[in-house]
Amino acid sequence: VFFLSDYRLRNIGPYDSALLLDWHNSEHVRAASFHDCSMTSQSHQQWLDSIANDPRSTRLVLESHGHPLGLLTFTNMERRDSTVHWGFYLGDPTLPKGTGSVLTYCGLEYAFGELRTRKIIAEVLASNLRSIKLHEKLGFICEGHFREQVFKNGEYHDVLRFALFACDWRGRFRSALGQTLFFDYASKCVSGPDITDAKR
Ligand SMILES: CC(C)(COP(=O)(O)OP(=O)(O)OC[C@H]1O[C@@H](n2cnc3c(N)ncnc32)[C@H](O)[C@@H]1OP(=O)(O)O)[C@@H](O)C(=O)NCCC(=O)NCCS
Repeated sequence: VFFLSDYRLRNIGPYDSALLLDWHNSEHVRAASFHDCSMTSQSHQQWLDSIANDPRSTRLVLESHGHPLGLLTFTNMERRDSTVHWGFYLGDPTLPKGTGSVLTYCGLEYAFGELRTRKIIAEVLASNLRSIKLHEKLGFICEGHFREQVFKNGEYHDVLRFALFACDWRGRFRSALGQTLFFDYASKCVSGPDITDAKR
């Protein structure tokens, strides 16, 4: 059983550096990644510096009672088109079943609420069935299949592109997922969504 009130999103900070490097290099995250090499602490620091100066992206940690659980990334924010690309992972693949749904629920609420995005875009390796199923459950529709798009581990991999519109999330998928996932969904909804301290 999950309680929505147990979770919050916060911006990443310099103190997250070691944790993020650990997560980034873990086997389950690398398996889902478009790249095949692990990061050194130096390349990781360069990456952190570069994203800190990128106004078109943001990274958020989902935490529960101070425990960091996973990362959400929002990149290529297009103000005019009102689109954003997202990605996510749990830090620990042995977290209870459903934690990925909590992470992505909170991420969608942030993107459609705080960022006021109209359309969220996801690119997923065609071999990542778990992520594909999760995106479909969240209401994403597959908009394209890019054959042999990414070179990784010595071979080319297909990539699927998914998208979800704010109107479809709010109209259908948000409350369907929220009600099955969160014990306190109804009471939290009366007072309005309150899942994030993260601001842009
Ligand atoms: C993707 C990820 C966040 C899912 O986390 P999780 O805790 O397994 O997610 P949940 O338990 O909430 O499952 C959500 C949905 O995923 C799908 N799913 C979960 N496990 C699955 C499996 N073994 N096989 C196929 N689909 C699966 C189901 O649709 C499930 O919903 P359901 O239980 O209502 O059927 C997690 O596995 C992860 O961090 N993976 C590595 C990074 C990654 O792939 N990120 C996405 C990149 S685009």
